[in-house]
Formats: sequence, structure tokens, C-alpha cells
Amino acid sequence: MTAHVDEARRTVADTLRTGRELLDPALRAAVGSLPESMQRIVGHHFGWRDEHGTPVDEDQGKAIRPTLVLLAGRAVGADARQVLPAAVAVELVHNFSLLHDDVIDGDLTRRHRPTAWRVFGSGPAILAGDALLTLAADVLTGSGHPAALAGLKELNTTVLDLVDGQSSDMSFERRADVALPEVLTMVGAKTGALLGCSCALGAFFGGAGQERVEHLRRFGYRLGLAFQLVDDILGIWGDPAVTGKPVHSDLRNRKKSLPVVAALNSGTAAGRELAELYSREMSDEDAVRAARLVSDSGAREWSRGHIATLEAEALHHLDAAALEPGPAAELAALTRMLTGREF
Ligand code: IPE
Ligand code: IPE
Ligand code: MG
Ligand code: MG
Repeated sequence: MTAHVDEARRTVADTLRTGRELLDPALRAAVGSLPESMQRIVGHHFGWRDEHGTPVDEDQGKAIRPTLVLLAGRAVGADARQVLPAAVAVELVHNFSLLHDDVIDGDLTRRHRPTAWRVFGSGPAILAGDALLTLAADVLTGSGHPAALAGLKELNTTVLDLVDGQSSDMSFERRADVALPEVLTMVGAKTGALLGCSCALGAFFGGAGQERVEHLRRFGYRLGLAFQLVDDILGIWGDPAVTGKPVHSDLRNRKKSLPVVAALNSGTAAGRELAELYSREMSDEDAVRAARLVSDSGAREWSRGHIATLEAEALHHLDAAALEPGPAAELAALTRMLTGREF
């Protein structure tokens, strides 16, 4: 059993490494076209440069979205190179969203180092995000791919979903009556949309027909939902040494993540106590107590169950897309690993 899990882990690590290796030269070339003022900040955010601008090789992120593009392209029979501009574009959009997200959330660490706004200031970090978003559009339109303009439309729609999701995420901090379906809609918009778009763009740039594109979009959307729910769990019970991100920041910000809202709506004594904590400023000790209350309410278990349901739905759409067996197996293995991740 353990040998089997180790083998699966190695396969997924290979998949992500291959994705990163294909992506990296094209991503670096694109970022190299930015003004030097932006390259400094972006270089730090991507783990290519330290805060003084000296080249380094630090945590660059998992490259999940570009890997999804490349696998979806291969899964519909295309060469990975044919869909590479789409892979670069989604990674740029993702990192635009992270640069802004860390300003919005006031978070101090990402990828095991200080966030860009902490090192360079909020204004410069926001501008670096803007630069990456603009660059994503340039990469698609400059690709010469016959589907470039349609792809850009798709990407722009996704960015607006993401922005809307982030807007709901913020507004929920100030509301006490958030319901579970609202959280799922918010999470789908802020994270599901971009993972869905990554899979759809890979298939679309790979020349697939509408039906396969839509199955892959639905697969990616559900994977994205599950992935964000795992991220929310890690934000409460994860190990910052492993995730590279803070723990309890979501609780202190009174985020209405799925486990929290499940706890608040659980009808349990723990849920009521959590609601009391969430009604005022929280200290570090309060956040530790809040984490325990979410567990005690049964919401941690419930969230795990919901992640398993989303994983099954995602895999159903993967099957329905009738893909090339090799890349399809890699997509399935990646899904299983991401829904069980601790990193
Ligand atoms: C972080 O995404 C934001 C979420 C949607 C949870 P990732 O966990 O994919 O970030 P990196 O790129 O690997 O750092
Ligand atoms: C993830 O935001 C979604 C986007 C950045 C669009 P979160 O705030 O939930 O993610 P982390 O935990 O900071 O990476
Ligand atoms: Mg955040
Ligand atoms: Mg956020």
C-alpha cells in the first residue's frame, strides 16, 4: 500500500516537474520583456531573485495551472508546445492574483519567504500584479496561435470571475450570515474558474471540439473547488514549514472559508462559540481556540467529505472527455494528489 502511494507521489512529482521545465524558459522570456522596475518584484515573487535583485533559485510555486494546460493539450492529442502560450498566460494570471491577494489579506509569507508587498511596499506589489495581468494578454495575442483571440476572451472572462470571487471573499469577512452555497459560489469564482479555464484553454488550443473542452472545464472547475477547500483546511491546521504560508491568518481575518461556515451553520455548541469569537477582533489565542471549535463542530470532517465528492465529480468529467490514456492518467493522479495534499 505504502509503496503504491510512494509510486503515485513520484509520478505526480514527475508530472509537475515536466510542466515546470516546459513552462520555465517561456515564462522567463515573457517576464524579461517587462520594465526592470517590475522584473525586480516579479523576480522575487517567482523565486528567481532575492530582494536585492541577486539571482537565486527559491520556491517558484507548484505550477499546477500551466501543468493542467499542458496535460489537457496532450490529452486531446496535441503537442505540449502548441499550447505553451496558454500555459504561460494562466501562470501569469495566477501570479497577478497572488500579488494582489497578499495585499488584500495582509499576509506576510508566501512560498516560504516574505510576500512582495512586505519587501517592496503595497503600491509596487499591486503594480507588479497589473504588469503580469497585462503580460498574460500580450503572450496570448503575440502567440500567433489561430485561437489566440478566442483564448484571450476566455481568459478575460475568467479574470472577471476571479475578481468577483475575491470581492465576495472580502465582503464575507464583514457578514455573520454567510450560507454554504454562497461560499461555494465564491470559491468557484476565485479559484475554480482559473483551474477550469486552464483545462479548457489547453484543450481549445490543442484543437479539441466544444464537448471535450466543456468536460475538461468542468473537471478543472471541480478540481479547483476541491483544491481551494484543501487550502482552507491547510490555512487552519496546516504546517507553515511545509505550506510556506501562514496558519490561522484566515481565522484572524474572520474569513468565511468553507470549514468555518460549515461550523457556524452546524447547530452545535462549538459552532455557537465560534460565532461569538468571530463577532470581534481575535488574538492569536482566540485563533487557536477557533481552530479547535471548527474541528469540534464536525466541520473539518464534513469538509473532507465534500472534497471527496468534488474529486469524484471531477474524475467523472475527466472520463467523459474521452482523452488520450497517458495524459488522462496523469490528470487523474494529479487530482488525487492535490485533494490529499499537505503542502
Ligand atoms: C494558491 O495557489 C492560491 C489558491 C488558489 C489556493 P497555489 O497553491 O497553486 O500557489 P503556488 O503557485 O503553488 O504558490
Ligand atoms: C486564493 O486566495 C484565490 C486567489 C488568490 C485568487 P486565498 O487568499 O484563499 O489563497 P492563499 O491561501 O492566500 O494562497
Ligand atoms: Mg490569501
Ligand atoms: Mg485571499
